[in-house]
This record gives sequence, structure tokens and C-alpha cells, in this order.
Amino acid sequence: MSLRIGMLTSGGDCQGLNPTMRGVAKALFEKDPGTEILGFLDGYAGLMHCHYRKMRSQEFSGILTLGGTILGTSRQPYKQMDERLYPGKPDGPTKLEAMVNSYKEMRLDALVVLGGNGSLKSASLLADQGLNVIGLPKTIDNDLGLTEETFGFNSAFTLATQVIDGIHTTATSHGRVFIIEIMGHKVGWLALYSGIAGGADIILLPEIPYKLNSVLKAINTREKHKKRFSIIVIAEGAMTVEEAQLSNKELEASRAARGFRGACYDLEDAMEGLALQEVRVAVPGHFVRGGSPSAYDRLLSTELGVEAAKMIWEKDFGRMPVVINGRIDRTEIKTAAFNLKKVPLDSPIIEAARLTGISFGDED
Ligand code: F6P
Repeated sequence: MSLRIGMLTSGGDCQGLNPTMRGVAKALFEKDPGTEILGFLDGYAGLMHCHYRKMRSQEFSGILTLGGTILGTSRQPYKQMDERLYPGKPDGPTKLEAMVNSYKEMRLDALVVLGGNGSLKSASLLADQGLNVIGLPKTIDNDLGLTEETFGFNSAFTLATQVIDGIHTTATSHGRVFIIEIMGHKVGWLALYSGIAGGADIILLPEIPYKLNSVLKAINTREKHKKRFSIIVIAEGAMTVEEAQLSNKELEASRAARGFRGACYDLEDAMEGLALQEVRVAVPGHFVRGGSPSAYDRLLSTELGVEAAKMIWEKDFGRMPVVINGRIDRTEIKTAAFNLKKVPLDSPIIEAARLTGISFGDED
């Protein structure tokens, strides 16, 4: 009998979602044209409320180059899975129970979840409930444990680098300091990679708390050496050494008290009157998550998607395809989801950056 597979995309979108779904679907339909694929709309919200559409094989053609997700997505925090689906109905199912019910009612053989850390934590809860779940590693942040790569990262890295390239020319014309904020709340892979590729002079990451004096010293030294501009790439989640001493709650309160608008504006405010050159800020934000997937991501997504199809045939559930030692491999969803992959402070790429004169704002 033909398989009936559910599929959903969850959390922040990225460029590799459609190519990955395409990889799964093409492999499934190639093997058995009778396969049924039910696409849940807007991520877990669709699964909870049983909002789905039956996807025809034609829908997966022409989406290799398409960013975003043809299924829609939403954020459904993992920590809220125990909450009632309808807060006004205390006897009703929890969100998790509602999802299990939908899966069973629809007599699915497996559910494929394309998501990052949070979404895959929820996927592991579903697997714990006995559902046949396969995960797929999505995120521009590249912060998922036990995989060297996630689809979306390369596309976002490429776009973020283009932004820095663009800023370079105007920074040079005007002889200015630019602070460019790049997405990445908990980890700084995107800021680090695009910062190095875009020729940033200072890179500030959540993993390396920075000192204002160190940043000022780096830009003022450049100015003294007649360098016309300085580029600071700051990750969304970067913080000062003082902030790093605070608990999350204290940090939030302290930032709220001074009208925090973002890491880049905080740095701009702190630098006021202290830098020798004019300072400007640029925030590409969600731009780096948009547009067409890079050629690299199209390839990675296809490989990961096809591997997911193989895992369905082999009934290798509760697991997900990943990249280990440059090759497609498999791991437990839970282990990957609960291991945040930060930039290691002793990584060769940090060392290489320091050796080329890039400051991380932690030097004396
Ligand atoms: O997880 C991907 C990501 O783009 C992060 O880099 C960023 O902090 C967050 O999502 C932004 O979330 P939202 O799209 O909900 O504003």
C-alpha cells in the first residue's frame, strides 16, 4: 500500500525549505507515484488544527529556486506545547495532544518536520509520543547541534556578505564607521562568516562579549593609520562584558530600562562622541533570510531531502539527516535539537580572523 506522509515547515523561514521538500517529495513520488503527501499549513499550527492540503507531485516542480516556503510557517514555542489548544476549554487537548490526534486521525505513516532548534525539540516530543517523525535541519543560524551544516545558512551567508560589500563602498567614499547588524541571537556563525568574507574590521559575537574600549581602540587605530573607513559587523545577540555578567532576566530589564533598540544601536549610542569618524548603522534584518536559495543550498537541500525519503522507507524514525565530516549522515532528532552549536572560541576560523587583524572587541 502507498505511504501517506505529512510534511510541515516550522519556525523562521529560510531559503532552503522548498528545495528540501522537493527533494523528499521527488524521491517519494519517483519510487511510488501513488504516495500521498499532506502538507500542513503554517507549521505546527496546521498540524494542531488539522489544516492541510494534499500536495500533487507537480507542486514540487519549479520550486528548487524559490525562497520561503510554499506551505507557510509560524512560530509555535516548544515550551507552550503543554498548553491547552483553546485556552477557554480547560478540558480540551493540549497543543501536543491535538497534534498527535491529527496524525492519528489522518492515519499518517510518517511526519517530516523541517525546522531549527525549537521546532525539532517539538518534533522530538512527537516522536516520544510514538509518532514516526523525521526531522530536517533548517536554519540560517547554523546553530543546530550534531550537524556541520543546516540548509539556509549558505544563502543567508551569501546575502549578508553582499550587504557588507555594498556598505564598504559607501563607507569608503564618506570615510565613515559602519555598524552592520546581522541576525543571530544566541550564536554568531552568520556574523562571523559574513564578517570575514565581507572584510569586516571588527566582528562582535554573542560568544565573545566585547569591551567598548577595545572596539574604539581598533577603529581609532585604523583611522590613525589613514584607513578611510571601518566596518563593524555585530551579531544581533552580541553583548558587552558587563552585560555578560547578568542573568537573562537582568539583561532584559537593564536593556528595557534604557530603551534598547538592538545591539547595533546600543553600540552606536555608546560610541557617541568617542569615535574619530562619523558612525552609521545598517540593519539588513530579514533580508538575509529571503530570496532565492544559493546553488550550494539547493544541492544540500536536495541531498538532505532525499536522505529523509530513504529514512522513511527504512523506518528510521525519531532521527534526521545531518552533515558530519562533510557527508550526509543521520542522528537522533533530540540530540541535535537540544545541543546548541555555538562558535567555539578556539576554532581555527577565529584564529585566522585574528591573524588577519580582525578585532573581536575582547582585546586589551
Ligand atoms: O532563527 C532564525 C532567525 O532569523 C534568527 O537569526 C533571528 O534571531 C530570528 O530568526 C528572527 O525571528 P523572527 O523572524 O520571528 O523575527
